Amino acid sequence: MEITAATRFELGTSGLMPNFRYDLRTTPPDVFVDETTTNFSALQWGDLGRPFEVKNYSRHRRNWEKTHAAPMPVEIQWEHFNKHFHSLFIKAPDKDGSLLQQRFLQHVKALDFGEAFEVVEELVQMKVWNYVHRMEDAVWDPRGKRALFEGLDVEKPNILFLGAADGYEAMQLLAMYPGGHAVLVDYDAFCETERFGNFPGAYPFLGQNPASGNWDIYHREDFDIDFVVDDIRNLKYGREFDIVVSVGLIEHFPDEYKPLVFDFHRRFLKPGGYAIATTPRRQVRSLIFYRVMESLMNYGYRELMDARQLGLYAYENGFDILRCGFIKGHNGIIAKAR
Ligand SMILES: C[S@@+](CC[C@H](N)C(=O)[O-])C[C@H]1O[C@@H](n2cnc3c(N)ncnc32)[C@H](O)[C@@H]1O
Repeated sequence: MEITAATRFELGTSGLMPNFRYDLRTTPPDVFVDETTTNFSALQWGDLGRPFEVKNYSRHRRNWEKTHAAPMPVEIQWEHFNKHFHSLFIKAPDKDGSLLQQRFLQHVKALDFGEAFEVVEELVQMKVWNYVHRMEDAVWDPRGKRALFEGLDVEKPNILFLGAADGYEAMQLLAMYPGGHAVLVDYDAFCETERFGNFPGAYPFLGQNPASGNWDIYHREDFDIDFVVDDIRNLKYGREFDIVVSVGLIEHFPDEYKPLVFDFHRRFLKPGGYAIATTPRRQVRSLIFYRVMESLMNYGYRELMDARQLGLYAYENGFDILRCGFIKGHNGIIAKAR
């Protein structure tokens, strides 16, 4: 089946496309485990412990540093991460997996074991990616994210997405709160042209029809989005956004920079606006994922934490936590500046 922007999926269904799962089911359970009842004002780091730091770095980073005789700058780390991560999203695991198996056999027949080993690594990564992204839908996780994002008191929101990459969550928010506008900010230009630029036009986002109040299905082309290629530290906006969101950004800032990264979630918010943040969960599955995907994903500083740790970081950096919990692969908070 050729997937084009004109491909339409049925409300209430879920199914597999060559490189993603779509999920338009409207009935629970939307997997969000709610820990909002946590009393953050009484919580201490001693009760929780600190996040786990992922320290196994990609060999591509180590090779780069040897060649350049210098540490890889953070912006270059992200360029490598985005290029490799995107290469997974555009793979069709069923077809590409068979091609890899053929390549493996050719290398073995030619007694080229070095190449054969690299193909095995690619094959394992493809299988894990297929399971995590396409079978489990734990990366985009539309049902979990809808459950996390639901019930915000906004109309036609103006949304700022910090470190937007493919912009997925801004699109999910625009589907749930239609008629809004989003600014995606990422300093890696590849995100504008490829990760967001080539986000599958056929991917269906489940949201609301503002006229009827019923479910509706949206696509990338339906959304009013501007992409800004810049460092979030250069942004000059006023307090003009109803929602400031980040996904997988906070855990890349060691503790001495946490006040700074939370400040970016606060300084562009309208009074009473919502800060939304997610980080990958500290769980055995995530540890295995970042081990197997090391060569593709581990270029920079990364922490794995739990939802209450994320909530406590936000609380001690001046936010009241309205919602806190976890979905398949991520923790999430909805917060307002105190
Ligand atoms: C881990 S990714 C976000 C996870 C995302 N959902 C994904 O699919 O990759 C973090 C993104 O933030 C961007 N980023 C990190 N620091 C930034 C900064 N100071 N200014 C702008 N973008 C930044 C990176 O380029 C990267 O695309």
